[in-house]
Amino acid sequence: MKHTKVVEVLQSDKLLQPVVIKGWVRSFRNDRFIAVNDGSTINNIQCVLEDNTIDAAIIDRINIGAAVVINGTLAESQGKGQRVEILVSSVEIEGDADPEELKLTILSPKRHSLEKLREQAHLRVRTNTFGAIMRVRSKLSFAIHEYFQKNDFYYVHTPVITKSDAEGAGEAFKVTNFDLNNVPKDENGGVNYKEDFFGGETNLTVSGQLEAETYAMGLGQVYTFGPTFRAENSNTSRHLAEFWMVEPEVAFCDLDGNMDLAEDFIKYVIQFVLENCQDDLEFLENRLIQEDKQKPQAERAEMSLRDKLKFVLENNFKRVSYTEAIEILKNSKPNKKKKFKFPIDGWGADLQSEHERFLVEKHFKCPVILFDYPADIKSFYMRLNEDGKTVRAMDILFPGIGEIVGGSQREERLDVLKEKMAALDIPEEDLWWYLDTRRFGTCVHSGFGLGFERLVLFVTGMGNIRDVIPYPRTPLNAEF
Ligand code: 4AD
Ligand code: MG
Repeated sequence: MKHTKVVEVLQSDKLLQPVVIKGWVRSFRNDRFIAVNDGSTINNIQCVLEDNTIDAAIIDRINIGAAVVINGTLAESQGKGQRVEILVSSVEIEGDADPEELKLTILSPKRHSLEKLREQAHLRVRTNTFGAIMRVRSKLSFAIHEYFQKNDFYYVHTPVITKSDAEGAGEAFKVTNFDLNNVPKDENGGVNYKEDFFGGETNLTVSGQLEAETYAMGLGQVYTFGPTFRAENSNTSRHLAEFWMVEPEVAFCDLDGNMDLAEDFIKYVIQFVLENCQDDLEFLENRLIQEDKQKPQAERAEMSLRDKLKFVLENNFKRVSYTEAIEILKNSKPNKKKKFKFPIDGWGADLQSEHERFLVEKHFKCPVILFDYPADIKSFYMRLNEDGKTVRAMDILFPGIGEIVGGSQREERLDVLKEKMAALDIPEEDLWWYLDTRRFGTCVHSGFGLGFERLVLFVTGMGNIRDVIPYPRTPLNAEF
């Protein structure tokens, strides 16, 4: 008989019918009650052993972590908090889990810290918290594709290996195919990349934007959604060396259209998880409530997780120019006693995350879109404004997260773009293909990049970006 997913069994009303489930033992009480989880839902199914039906040798092997196949009949549950349970007729152990060995892992039945769980990233998906996070992550990915496909965007697979450093920030990981003991040298004693696999220096992409722009110039509206890599040595709870980015790019769209798109898109995917991940969100919300109880009153969350998500849906993102934001920050203190760690000197300074979070969490108390940043602190490809000193950039700032989106209207004028590149010492020959888009049928166009893990952080209420991606890559950490 084919097995049924636990999520379906729990909703089934086929009482007294035979049922088969396959999953892993989460607990086994009184030699009688097995809680089984198969990953299809946060909820376990209770399987009840009736007296003398199961061999003692099998009962001995029903240990936490074991993979089991359970045959039985569906019955109304006598226990609290569950509608149905399975009255077991047979248990097959498909994979044993030795209790002594398991004791040494995070699967042992006690509360482990998130730090501890990170050390065994290969097992943590079997915990309730990580099961919930990873199901939400998967649903969010689906919602992202659904949004763009429904709105007639084409999915473009931009390359992972590239010669361009789209952000020009020098944070790209080098890709080489050298024998490290025998690195080819050029005439000046430097590395001779001409002898490498690609015959030139290449790196892992920091953003698919430049390639996405070339495709928007043919397909109209496109998006990429893939892994991106940054060798920035920032050990924070918001940065990864490998993260996933969603990057739409739209021809004939200005900065206002870009802001409208970003806001509509974010609201769509949040609405989607509110509707489609109810049990997991409820679990994650309760987890936060428990965590909050350990904190002093002043540090506790003002809103529950789901109310926070609904708040985003129900309120317009506040659109504020960089210049206005600087004025607000110059005249503010984060609280009565403290000043900003990095005081705002004046116009032209880049905002630190404490400033971004102040604007969102204390001042406006809603998501904020900051736009028209000083040209000097933004990338070369952004559209210069008529004032000659600001660019049509936008960052979207979220409570508890800071920057979740970075985007812009792109510089579509060939001469201005070339001047900008020259000023920044970006050789034209490196980006000749990109400049071609401005040579042949250039047009106003815009796009943005949303850091997928930052979105997952927001939606799950987790505090550290290492806990929302299966295998986090951070400085000195790529073990698995
Ligand atoms: O602001 P960023 O650097 O923008 C770009 O890369 C543009 N080329 C995107 C575009 O316009 N198509 O990065 C975009 C977003 C950030 O707002 C942030 O959410 C996320 O990517 N991000 C990171 N997430 C995790 N770890 C890191 N190291 C990140 N760096 C950026
Ligand atoms: Mg940015």
